[in-house]
Amino acid sequence: MAKLTVNDLDVRGKRVFVRVDYNVPMEEKDGQMVINDATRIKETLPTLDLLINKGAKIILAAHLGRPKGQREPSMSLRPVAAKLADMINRPVAFVDDCIGEKVENTVGALKEGDVLLLENVRYYNEEEANDAAFAEKLAKVADIYVNDAFGAAHRAHASTEGVARIVAKRGGKCAAGLLMERELKFLGDELETPASPFVVILGGAKVSDKIKVIDRLLEKADTILIGGAMAYTFKLANGFKTGKSLVEADKTDVALAAIAKAAKRGVKFLLPTDNIVATPQETGKLNKKGKPVFEFVNPRVLAEANIPDAEEGFDIGPATAATYAEVIRSAKTILWNGPMGMFEDKRFAEGTNVVARAVVEATQKNGAKSIIGGGDSVKALNVAGLGDKVTFMSTGGGASLEFLEGSALPGVAALSDK
Ligand code: 3PG
Repeated sequence: MAKLTVNDLDVRGKRVFVRVDYNVPMEEKDGQMVINDATRIKETLPTLDLLINKGAKIILAAHLGRPKGQREPSMSLRPVAAKLADMINRPVAFVDDCIGEKVENTVGALKEGDVLLLENVRYYNEEEANDAAFAEKLAKVADIYVNDAFGAAHRAHASTEGVARIVAKRGGKCAAGLLMERELKFLGDELETPASPFVVILGGAKVSDKIKVIDRLLEKADTILIGGAMAYTFKLANGFKTGKSLVEADKTDVALAAIAKAAKRGVKFLLPTDNIVATPQETGKLNKKGKPVFEFVNPRVLAEANIPDAEEGFDIGPATAATYAEVIRSAKTILWNGPMGMFEDKRFAEGTNVVARAVVEATQKNGAKSIIGGGDSVKALNVAGLGDKVTFMSTGGGASLEFLEGSALPGVAALSDK
């Protein structure tokens, strides 16, 4: 059933507790934490503008990183409050806690249209435990609950689920924010009845991460294009040599079952026919986790299907990229989740870039709806400077994957029905 949205609410003068996903990448520069990518903040601005214009008293709650109940200073949301104030061109109050007297006093002084950001909810272990008493404390300042944190909606935590239940129990409304609404529309409704040809592009490291999505999309897709390291598990399942490539040897049965299901349903299921390979060499150095660091030397196009013992696959090859691009260019609906190779290294980025350009071309010339399912594929599109040229890019990583698998998201389930 459709969920209530922020558009349906009368919020004037009310204390609106808004859960946002401000889990943004940060980096320390000259002793200060600097935000590297503010996309997740930017995407909440339509909801905030609406609430400000409607005269709500806005209390924003979010997590940052995984501090595991500790007050880890590098995971403070204070820099986010400053960034948000810049972006909305108005003051954003900040309290260095998310519960307690200081929060209650600050909320008590809020006027219509004022915005307050609370400190990282994960400074308390009770957040991730969805502790009822902690949720009660958060809910103390909430007349209405809004969830705009699609990226955290797969977590049943106090601020994503517990507070909503409490507000609803009191007779208060719990609604989706505008970003949440858009995410559910594109990753949900739009893919229920996709215009054909529906082409699904899946990459990433592991078959086990994507198998449920593959299984579900085999019901709808016309073609599935496989890239990334998970392609090597499919190759192994088909009896090819994979050299030193990353494979899940215990998942070949799962891979074969997917191939068989595709054949049965008449879904074209394409695997790479050529690859970019390189030879891993130990550098003698150890990484932060104490594991040996490798460098990858002699990158080359390998046109044959079997990868030699000493080599490892890092990207789809040019022939595969050309085939995939041709399929993508004729699509009417595209869903892309996961890069085609190790795109962070330029030598292994071309497959992902060819696919990215084809997705943009299909969108602009063929009128295709292109939906990018979050995480690394969004990063890859942004690195290629093509992020604004597709129909929709999800702000969720794990959440978009779970949603595409067909799982109910606790943060959505807890919202009021229309
Ligand atoms: C994300 O970055 O995917 C979300 O903010 C969720 O973060 P989490 O995986 O730490 O719960």
